[in-house]
This record gives sequence, C-alpha cells and structure tokens, in this order.
Amino acid sequence: MEGKQIVIVEDEATSRLAMEKALKKKNYNVISFEDSLKALDYIKTNPTFIDLVITDFRMPGMNGMELIKEVTSLESDISIILVTAFGSIESAVEAMKLGAEDYLAKPIDMFELRKRVEKIINNKKLKREVDNLKQRIDKFYSFSNIIGKSPQMKNLFEKVLMVAPTDTTVLITGESGTGKELIANAIHQNSLRKNNIFLPINCAAIPAEILESELFGHEKGAFTGAVNQKVGKFELASNGTLFLDEIGEMSLDLQAKLLRIIEQKEFMRVGGNKLIKVKTRIIAATNQNLEELVKSGKFREDLYFRLKVVHLKIPPLRERKGDIPLLVNHFLKKFGELHGKPEISISPEALKVLEHYRWPGNVRELQNLVESLVIFSNDDIITAENIPDEIISQSDFKTEIKKPHIIENSDNILIKLGEPLEEIEKKVILKTLRMFNGNKTHTAKALKIGLRTLHRKLKEYGEEQ
Ligand SMILES: Nc1ncnc2c1ncn2[C@@H]1O[C@H](COP(=O)(O)OP(=O)(O)OP(=O)(O)O)[C@@H](O)[C@H]1O
Ligand SMILES: [Mg+2]
Repeated sequence: MEGKQIVIVEDEATSRLAMEKALKKKNYNVISFEDSLKALDYIKTNPTFIDLVITDFRMPGMNGMELIKEVTSLESDISIILVTAFGSIESAVEAMKLGAEDYLAKPIDMFELRKRVEKIINNKKLKREVDNLKQRIDKFYSFSNIIGKSPQMKNLFEKVLMVAPTDTTVLITGESGTGKELIANAIHQNSLRKNNIFLPINCAAIPAEILESELFGHEKGAFTGAVNQKVGKFELASNGTLFLDEIGEMSLDLQAKLLRIIEQKEFMRVGGNKLIKVKTRIIAATNQNLEELVKSGKFREDLYFRLKVVHLKIPPLRERKGDIPLLVNHFLKKFGELHGKPEISISPEALKVLEHYRWPGNVRELQNLVESLVIFSNDDIITAENIPDEIISQSDFKTEIKKPHIIENSDNILIKLGEPLEEIEKKVILKTLRMFNGNKTHTAKALKIGLRTLHRKLKEYGEEQ
C-alpha cells in the first residue's frame, strides 16, 4: 500500500501513536497531527495527495465533526473515518451524513482499524480504475469520434441523438465500411443503457442452427451437445443493447422469432417451455437491400416494416466527399501517434487525389490506406507519389506526377505490355550499347550473348554495315 497518504488527527498521544504505528506497519504513508487546525491547514494545502483522514471526535480547537465538514467541502477525493470515544451512535450517524465513510469506537482495535482502512483504500483504487476505464471508453466511442461535418452526417447525428434515449428498435443501412457499427455504438453510448452492455453479433458469421441458440439460449438436453443450459444474447443484453449485424442473412425461421421478441418482449430458450421476459434494445444493420430481399421472399415483410420504423441510412463516402479531408486528418493523427510519427501530414495534391476517388470500401478503405501510408512513409509528408497506382489511376483528379519507376532514364527502358518481344530485344540491345558508350565486347558480355550474335543483330537493325 505504498504511496497512500493517511492523515491522523488525534489529540491523545497514546491513541495517535498506536494508530500511526499500526498503519505504518502496513506501509501506508502516515502523517499525524495533535492539533486539528494544523491538520486542516495541511489537508487544504495537499488535498490531492491525501487518500484518507482518520479523525478523533472530541478535540480542543476544532472538533471532528467540524473538520469533516471542512474536508468534505474541498474539491478532493479524500475519505474520512471518524473515531469516537463516546461510542454514541448519534455522532457516528451525523458523521456519516456529513460524508464520513466509516467510524470506529474507542478503544480502537488495531486489527479492525487496518481492515477498515484497507477496504476504503481498495475501494478507492477500484473506483479510480473504473472511472479511468469509463473515460477511455467514452472517449473511444463518443459521438465526437465519429468524424463528419457534411450535411448528411450532421443530419444523421441529430437523428442518433433523438433516437438514442428511447428504447426503440433501429435499423441502420449503408454500404460496407460506412460506419454502421459505429453509429449503433453511438446510439448505445448516448442512451440510458450506456453503463450496460453493447453486444454485437454478426448473423452472417454464425451458421443458422447455432445462431438460434446463441441468440435465445438453450435448455440442458435441448439437442445433442447441449450438455448445459445456456443463456442467450437476448438475455445477456436485457439491460443493454443487442446489435444484430447483417440482419439480411438471418433465416426466415429466426426472423419470425425475432419479430415476436420485438413485439412481445418475450421468448423461449431452445428446448424450453418457459416464456422469458427481456427488455433488450435491438439495433439491426445490413448492407443489403432489404426491400429487394422482401420481394424475393428472403426477408419477412412484417419484420421489415417493424424494423424500419426508425431507419438510419448512412450515405456512402463518395456522396459526402467534404468529409474526406477531415477523415484523412483524423486518421493521420490517430495512426501518426500509434506508429510514432506524430508530425505526419499530407500534401494538398495527394489529398486531392483521395478526395476524387470513389472509395468502394468507404471509410474502412480510407482508414486502412491512411494507416499503410503512415507506416511506409519515410518523410513527414505524404505526397501523391506515395499513393498506390490503383487509386491514382481511378481518381478523377489527374496528378501531373509520374511515378519515378515508370520514367525512362539512362539505365532502364520502358516496356509496354503487349509490345512485340523483338522490339523489346532491340531496345534492350541498343540502350545497353549506349550505356557502354558503343563498346560491343562489354555489351555482349552484359547481355550474355556472343559478340557475333551482337554484330548480326546490329546489322539487322541497320546500325552496322
Ligand atoms: N465517420 C467515421 N469517423 C471515424 N471512423 C469511422 C467513421 N465511419 C467509419 N469509421 C471507421 O471505419 C471502420 C468501419 O466502420 P464500421 O465497422 O462501423 O462499418 P460497417 O458499416 O459496420 O461495415 P460492414 O458493413 O463492413 O460491417 C471502423 O474502423 C470505424 O471505426
Ligand atoms: Mg459492420
């Protein structure tokens, strides 16, 4: 328990020293005061270093109750234990009301003291860890981390904020990589369920027979292999949000069960005969056209209508090109920090190339590209030359930049696919000859052909009589 700072305020020397000794033995950092006013002074100057104050009740100057009032009014995280000689339940109750966490009656049992202190310190540690984790999760998923300032995205954010606090079922559609899961998560994080689980399940990744028991659970012996009872995802997420990804892949049979759970909030486990009630919020997503699936009989119409009451459509990236620079900079910062290149940036020309590309894989594709550009860049600036050919050639922005490896220079030749081999051979021979300043012996040696062959070829080309 090193580094934990405990302040003892006690005018009675024997009791003070005994407590000090008992706690120091456990490696706490202890500082004791005989005078409560001096103690308060110390606490006020070091509020963030102190974890716990143990104070006597009856003291000259300022009594324990007043000290508690003072300490709890500080902007700090200090816990308080009140020690009282009078064992009076009233003063203990009052102290607790004022914000003390615990109390001990005199004579103090040192074993008990250590136990209580340890409990308080551990709880604080746990609380700090939880707070920290929550903050990190909030930051990670928070709304502000969904990048977008295009009118379409702003409109989407508004709808998310409106629908989040309700328990309504939501359908999210959009091409692959547009951020469906991110939006689903934002709905959850902005809802009253945010401190409970967000449980994603991909209906396409799990075989139909297994999906049913994954979702609804099963009773022991429901089928071969069901050796134990299993609780399904609907039950697990009863206080949270269940994200049914790729809903278009769900079998018609399961679709019927899903409709029932949405409408009646109850279901039966596989092999069970008991109706189980749940409060699960359902968010479904798909990149398929559900209307088409309904027409072809692969998706239940009633479920479709039930799902699309609240329908959020995420536009593909190519329809909101204004978001591209923002996303590029966001990912540059993110991956720059991750890969130890925090200063990395992109040239205006390279950015133009990216802005005028169609992004069939949407934000995911953009994110992956930026990460690889960051990893493979040697400089602090990414230029059009660093961008892969496929993207350059499919971008509507035509850059003047020619890739260095396709420029013909003194020690290479440019070969077009489909060029006759004879032509290629001629180019190689003539250029090699030029490279060796007309020295035929060196040329033949480099090309691993006989000197006579070289002469013959040069004659054919009309370069020699
Ligand atoms: N607007 C955005 N801002 C920041 N990151 C985004 C945005 N949209 C998508 N992303 C990122 O792109 C990746 C793909 O997003 P997500 O998984 O939510 O897409 P999806 O629509 O569910 O795709 P699929 O249909 O392939 O499952 C994720 O890493 C996500 O964090
Ligand atoms: Mg997804």
